[in-house]
Amino acid sequence: MTKYFIKGGKKICGEIKIQGAKNSVLPILAACILNYGEITLKNCPEISDVDNTLKILELLGCKIIREKNILIINSRNLDSSNIPENLACEMRSSIVFMGSLLSRNKKVIITKPGGCKLGDRPIDLHIDALIKMGANIKFIENKIICVCDKLKGCVINLKFASVGATQNIILAACLANGMTKIINAAREPEIIDLQNFLVKMGAKVYGAGTNEIYIFGVKNLSKNFEYKIMPDRIIASSYLVASAITKGDILINNITPAHLPLNYFLKIGCMVKIHKNKVFLQAPENIKPIDYLETDVYPGFPTDLQSQFLSLLSVANGKSIIKEKIFNERYKNIFELKKINADIKISEDKKKFIINGVKNLKSSNNLITHDLRGGVGLVLVSLFIKGECVINDEKDFIKRGHENIVRDLNKLSADIKILDK
Ligand code: EPZ
Repeated sequence: MTKYFIKGGKKICGEIKIQGAKNSVLPILAACILNYGEITLKNCPEISDVDNTLKILELLGCKIIREKNILIINSRNLDSSNIPENLACEMRSSIVFMGSLLSRNKKVIITKPGGCKLGDRPIDLHIDALIKMGANIKFIENKIICVCDKLKGCVINLKFASVGATQNIILAACLANGMTKIINAAREPEIIDLQNFLVKMGAKVYGAGTNEIYIFGVKNLSKNFEYKIMPDRIIASSYLVASAITKGDILINNITPAHLPLNYFLKIGCMVKIHKNKVFLQAPENIKPIDYLETDVYPGFPTDLQSQFLSLLSVANGKSIIKEKIFNERYKNIFELKKINADIKISEDKKKFIINGVKNLKSSNNLITHDLRGGVGLVLVSLFIKGECVINDEKDFIKRGHENIVRDLNKLSADIKILDK
């Protein structure tokens, strides 16, 4: 449990370097078990999801040396296929161990994954693909038991461009017999990062970033190499929102501008300048509303930024509409924002939010986090409010993705601290 105490009303201004991406490092860590060589991972974020994933790797028999943002991982002596239940339940991302362990050990025992409660989080696309590649999968109570001979490459047409399923199939295909083609693959930048990592390992993966990915199975993978994790585009975008909502300005100096939904910051009236891997944003005097914004798969508006924009549009000059198309329960922040006077209505099917921007939001010491990005959305709206807010992060969701949100925002002139227990 962490209580964040924020004295809002200050402009968020300054320059910041963004940490490594949670949603890139997690599949890359699972991919490490494909390799018999030693891997040095740089720019690895110090977040609890990484802590838990490293515990899984060690329990599987990997040797890990950790020095702040640098990890040295050796999977040569991997001797288990069993993902411990308590850790698998912690994180949705544990599901991608299926593909890599089946590749390496031809066996995996895992519990149905946990993670942020965002609604149904089925894994049918993962299971169907692995079965098509030759896995034999049984569900016994809450365990998933998979065995296979050598997996075989095939054509997999995803009915939805699932990020996790795309990653799982890639990891399953790297050591399979023959070629695997993924149709309707997810195009998120984190998929490109995974491909770049695997290619350095000696795997034959092509097409990441497009909706067709090809993987040609190889006999084995055994390389010593190093790799630097991409910066976190969702955290970068969240800090752009922090400046936008407080009439501030911010320079992000290590990000790929094309990975950010900058057009939406222009729509709300921000001035944005980009130069190579830097983005500068100047907030407007007043936030313009957005008639209609819907979340979608990349390159659409990222669902992981929906809660942050919900906070931002709660103080816009007029009416905005947000439609959440990816997760069917990513609306719980509305109940927290209503505690501070936000004027938000939610449709019957809980997918559409009608936001009438108001300026008279009021402080609260009783804001509760429901998931990682929702928690960040509450921090951002507290930065706007001229007063003191307390955010009760009972399950430490924010630390799952942010190395140190207090350090980062104080560097940007915020007044935020952690309250003693
Ligand atoms: C990844 O989750 C991210 N997590 C999520 O970030 C992100 O919101 C999501 O991709 C979408 O971009 C990690 O990378 C660790 P999906 P994932 O499979 O892989 C349905 C965060 O806050 N679906 O693309 O679970 C599913 O129900 C987290 O950092 C199926 O129907 O996302 C959902 O509606 C939250 N069957 C949609 O696809 C399946 O087999 C998106 O899921 C798999 C998914």
